[in-house]
Amino acid sequence: MISREIYLSSRPNGKPTLQDFGIRATEIPEVSAGQVVIRNLFLSVDPGWRLLFNDEGIYDEQLLASHHVTPPVLGLGDCIPGFTLGEVIASRNQKFPLGAIVIHQQGWQEYSHLDDATKFAPMATIDPHCSLPLSYYLGPLGQNGFTAWLGLLDIGNIKESDTVFISAASGATGHLAGQIAKLCGAARVIGSTSAASNASKLREIGFDVVIDRRGGNIASKLSSAAPDGIDLYFDGVGGEHLAAALRCLKPGGRAILSGAITSYNDPRPHRELIGVPELPVIMKGLTIRGFRVFENMHHWEAFAKEMTKWLSSNEIQAEETVYHNITSAPQAFVDLFTDGAKFGKSIVKL
Ligand SMILES: NC(=O)c1ccc[n+]([C@@H]2O[C@H](COP(=O)([O-])OP(=O)(O)OC[C@H]3O[C@@H](n4cnc5c(N)ncnc54)[C@H](OP(=O)(O)O)[C@@H]3O)[C@@H](O)[C@H]2O)c1
Repeated sequence: MISREIYLSSRPNGKPTLQDFGIRATEIPEVSAGQVVIRNLFLSVDPGWRLLFNDEGIYDEQLLASHHVTPPVLGLGDCIPGFTLGEVIASRNQKFPLGAIVIHQQGWQEYSHLDDATKFAPMATIDPHCSLPLSYYLGPLGQNGFTAWLGLLDIGNIKESDTVFISAASGATGHLAGQIAKLCGAARVIGSTSAASNASKLREIGFDVVIDRRGGNIASKLSSAAPDGIDLYFDGVGGEHLAAALRCLKPGGRAILSGAITSYNDPRPHRELIGVPELPVIMKGLTIRGFRVFENMHHWEAFAKEMTKWLSSNEIQAEETVYHNITSAPQAFVDLFTDGAKFGKSIVKL
């Protein structure tokens, strides 16, 4: 059986381009004991993978190995890894019978040949009784939903009456975070985006105010949106957004750092990047806390239960931008870093 896969053909210099990716055909071998072949149905497209494309690792390798997640640096020619959902079509593994729907991290391939001891990730089986779309398991019921839920409820300790600011609000995580914040009783939810069309959609799903991140000046836009200050900042962006939020946070406020998309395409080594204004943090006694989902898996069950309920009752709208065919995966990835090019979770349907 022949399968096509997308690989890293050159290391991006700054923003990724289509030329940084290649496509090739591979032969999928027969299964031996313990192995399965999966026909992939949906590929997840995530900005964090950009960090793997540099030749400098930023993650702690031992930590990653202990959590069974992807390697810190991709080699040229390596298939792009990532959360991938598919159906088992050949199996010599009782844990993953024919027809099972599974998630793995083998990445941007039409078919994946693997066993459950693969170094990339433990595979997870999907609840066959769930009536929600399968693609949701890569977004709202996957790591994006978990990041939003965990960041607000556990790490950020959201409270009723909080004024909350969410950057990358139109993204896979941000648009869910805004809705979760409202469900938790937040008094005011503010988001930022680069596109007028995305701003309208954010208002439709419950954001109270949306600021335009184009042209910078985030600090003054944020203080107009929250004249009394903010209580909680949910950060997926870093840089100017984080500096503005720290200045706008009320005394005792909390900044929750889930990502830093502004630095992902910065060609300087990460150790050379300089930080954020420290005086507001000291003078106002702020808490800044970063987190990664894979260190918090003990909360997964509680998250999945609550998110399934919210999605099933339409209390949360899950938005997707869907690309078709494996050949569109590089474009989907480039679009993550292109102002206003997408809304919600970017997904490739095979
Ligand atoms: N800690 C964790 O375990 C974890 C898990 C998942 C995600 N994350 C992080 O969370 C963040 C969001 O991820 P996601 O998958 O939700 O994102 P996404 O779907 O890729 O959306 C991100 C959005 O950010 C905006 N954006 C792009 N470049 C930007 C820039 N330079 N400055 C400001 N905004 C920019 C764009 O929206 P507009 O053009 O509409 O503004 C884009 O649609 C990322 O930093 C990601 O790495 C962390």
